[in-house]
Amino acid sequence: MNKTFAIAAVLSMLGGTAAMAQDHAAEVKARQGQFRILALNLGVLGGMAKGAIPYDAAAAQAAADSLVGVSMVHQPTLWPEGSDNMSIDGTRAQPNIWENLDDVLSKWDALGVAAKEMQVAAGTGQEAIGPALGKLGGACKACHDTYRAPE
Ligand code: HEC
Repeated sequence: MNKTFAIAAVLSMLGGTAAMAQDHAAEVKARQGQFRILALNLGVLGGMAKGAIPYDAAAAQAAADSLVGVSMVHQPTLWPEGSDNMSIDGTRAQPNIWENLDDVLSKWDALGVAAKEMQVAAGTGQEAIGPALGKLGGACKACHDTYRAPE
């Protein structure tokens, strides 16, 4: 298979327009999906912290590992210029994100730090989850308060 053809074949698997479409639908879906993965796993840990879900060290560890995994996704790919809620439908990303990219990325990094702390704590016992969860929730909120539009 020649190289140009191979590249074209790979791009067609991405749905053809993935990185090129001006509606930025692919990037918006991807970033919203990553937030949903975060929320689901936070929910598992929150349920265990409250006792609504029986504590299970392996499941707690898996949830924390997933948070760390998502926190390692390279963010700039997901936030193309012009994908704010004034420019396109279907997003709650506020335009001020693109005026403060360094701050947004540092808030994302803070989430990564909190996720790593949870990764250390989660498997060690139910009572270790609460404090780590508070810090994680604070990292989510710090970004949402400034950069996410209300529903
Ligand atoms: C660095 C900023 C930032 C951090 C940190 C952050 N979020 Fe968000 N979040 C956003 C923005 C901006 C949106 C809107 C994205 C969009 O609609 O394009 C969003 C959207 C969401 C959504 C809605 C997704 C959808 O389907 O529309 C959920 C749920 C969510 N975040 C949960 C979380 C949780 C849980 C955490 C922490 C574990 C978190 N976020 C951390 C900025 C952040």
